[in-house]
Amino acid sequence: MPSFPRPRCDTQEGMSDFEGQAAVVIGAGAGIGRAVAILLAQRGASVACVDRDQDTAQKTAQEIGPRAIAVSADVSDETSVQTAFEQAENAFGQVHIAINCAGISGTTGKQSHEVELDDFDRVVKINLRGALVVSQTALRHMLQHNYGRIVHVASIAGKEGNANMIAYSATKAGMIGMVKAQGKEYAETGITVNALAPAVIRTDLVAALPDEVVTYMTDKIPMKRTGTVEEAAAMLAFIASKDCSFTTGFTFDLTGGRATY
Ligand SMILES: NC(=O)c1ccc[n+]([C@@H]2O[C@H](COP(=O)([O-])OP(=O)(O)OC[C@H]3O[C@@H](n4cnc5c(N)ncnc54)[C@H](O)[C@@H]3O)[C@@H](O)[C@H]2O)c1
Repeated sequence: MPSFPRPRCDTQEGMSDFEGQAAVVIGAGAGIGRAVAILLAQRGASVACVDRDQDTAQKTAQEIGPRAIAVSADVSDETSVQTAFEQAENAFGQVHIAINCAGISGTTGKQSHEVELDDFDRVVKINLRGALVVSQTALRHMLQHNYGRIVHVASIAGKEGNANMIAYSATKAGMIGMVKAQGKEYAETGITVNALAPAVIRTDLVAALPDEVVTYMTDKIPMKRTGTVEEAAAMLAFIASKDCSFTTGFTFDLTGGRATY
């Protein structure tokens, strides 16, 4: 009979304990990224608040206090992402967690035959190529320590496809596929790669969308409401915790009952 490690049942450490760990949160200047950066810090992590908007990254870091640094980086520029991870490593010694919340919706409200390819390329560069840049950079740091938690924020649009949001839907589906492959590639290293697929969460990104687009998305949610950034942050924190140790390559649901598969 093979022996298996005993499951941990202590509640003193684990999902609520990030003491001694450092996180790089990309897109930490606003919305979901800001919320998870603050939550991880409240639970003991040191946090590099990374955003292409230096001012908002700085604001989040200031809100957190001495255990945070602010770094300006754009996921469409790999050199800036590499520099951000180096700065985090220099400040904190090791990067245990990378959470990628950077994303844009691109132009919405156009059917595929009307979509401008330049706009499509812009969304691909940030949402999909940017996700690969974040994973690659995080992996190169984490492989040195055989431990890491990489989490990308995808979207329900990537599972089901939102009409008239082709670039967004396609890039989030690509991100989900990337996470599946990376989960398998690094499954034996102590590094997990997962994603979160939210339905509508009330943030600036959603506030900027036309009302009819938000209604279209909310109507599909059985709970008939948008999610909150606190709900997204809580689930991201769990996925990024030591306790989430037997799940990789997976996209977690956060949809108020919309995606029950
Ligand atoms: N809000 C929702 O309803 C919802 C639903 C599903 C998925 N998502 C995804 O969650 C993630 C976060 O969304 P949000 O609603 O918090 O958005 P948000 O616009 O409120 O915040 C996104 C942050 O990312 C930063 N950012 C954007 N592009 C960047 C880049 N190229 N490099 C670095 N930083 C960049 C922005 O400056 C901003 O601070 C996105 O990937 C989004 O697609 C959001």
